[in-house]
Amino acid sequence: MQDVTTEKKEFTPTIVAFCCNWCSYAGADLAGSSRLTYPANVKIIRVPCSCRVNPMFVLKAFQQGADGVILCGCHPGDCHYVTGNYYTRRRMALLYSFLNYMGIEKERTRVEWVSAAEGARFAAVMNDFVKQVTDLGENKRLTDLRVKEGE
Ligand code: FES
Repeated sequence: MQDVTTEKKEFTPTIVAFCCNWCSYAGADLAGSSRLTYPANVKIIRVPCSCRVNPMFVLKAFQQGADGVILCGCHPGDCHYVTGNYYTRRRMALLYSFLNYMGIEKERTRVEWVSAAEGARFAAVMNDFVKQVTDLGENKRLTDLRVKEGE
């Protein structure tokens, strides 16, 4: 008789984290050099400023198979380009309402301010976001099925 075991595969989300060069990326660096752990499934993309991230980048990341996208920048008032993160905040607020309109959980995206001195905060934010997206499950609604076929 054949032994039939149904293995439940644990879901590990793919997370894309856009981090501004001047604060959040340095915060991620500090987290690493302080040996603070955050999940390896967080893929960091370094951008010059959080305002470099067009909301289309977020949608493209979802289309390419990301389960969650987080955007990290300098604290308000601390942006290296003075007002960049204010633009980010407004754009992402619009993206949230667009996702809401599309019926996509807006909890799959998040904006966080992390300074270069906040390595511990960076690790905590990533751990929390990964847990949140893991609870939401796989992103099925925005993924381009042609991307999955190519795997
Ligand atoms: Fe960090 Fe603008 S340089 S948000």
